[in-house]
Amino acid sequence: MPFTIAIDGPAASGKGTIARALALRFSFHHLDTGLLYRAVGARGGDPIAAANSLSPEDLARGDLRSAEAGQAASRVAAIPEVRAALVAFQRAFARQEPGAVLDGRDIGTVICPMAEVKLYVTASDQIRARRRALELGADEARMLVELRERDARDAARDVAPMRPADDAILLDTSEMSIEAAVARAVETVRQVL
Ligand code: C5P
Repeated sequence: MPFTIAIDGPAASGKGTIARALALRFSFHHLDTGLLYRAVGARGGDPIAAANSLSPEDLARGDLRSAEAGQAASRVAAIPEVRAALVAFQRAFARQEPGAVLDGRDIGTVICPMAEVKLYVTASDQIRARRRALELGADEARMLVELRERDARDAARDVAPMRPADDAILLDTSEMSIEAAVARAVETVRQVL
């Protein structure tokens, strides 16, 4: 049976960095599920049709990391048919041997509710805005507004809202270095593996 690690949390919490590090450490596959929604948003046109015909080329587009692509992703992510179209791919990804790390907003709650390890990664709004501003070379105050708007939309939607699973382990990275956050996550996985 493959081993599944579900990592959820708001934008720029550190969940992507932690997911990549865990995948490397345990030789697991890694899927950044936010990329799927970003690719659907970036296609333009009918988002439901886009979600049903997503291709590897869509995921390889160079402009998916921008703040605008994040906002577009969060708008299409509230559409139930868009989410439904992406479920099978994510679940099949999670079934790969020897294991997989998926990061997103609804992995522990909806996509992989049976995951062996569930982490919910958070950090204060200010710290997340600073990280995102450094990463994108953007203005910190603008990033703060952007992140808060996106988190509010992600948490308030009716279908698969962003929230920790009841059995998720919370990891607040506000005061932690990347190394310390990764070490804590590795330790959590080791206790279960
Ligand atoms: O993680 P990232 O910031 O790339 O995600 C972009 C957007 O995609 C999120 O703001 C959220 O609206 C949506 N998303 C989602 N469910 C996931 C992953 C991302 O709704 N599992």
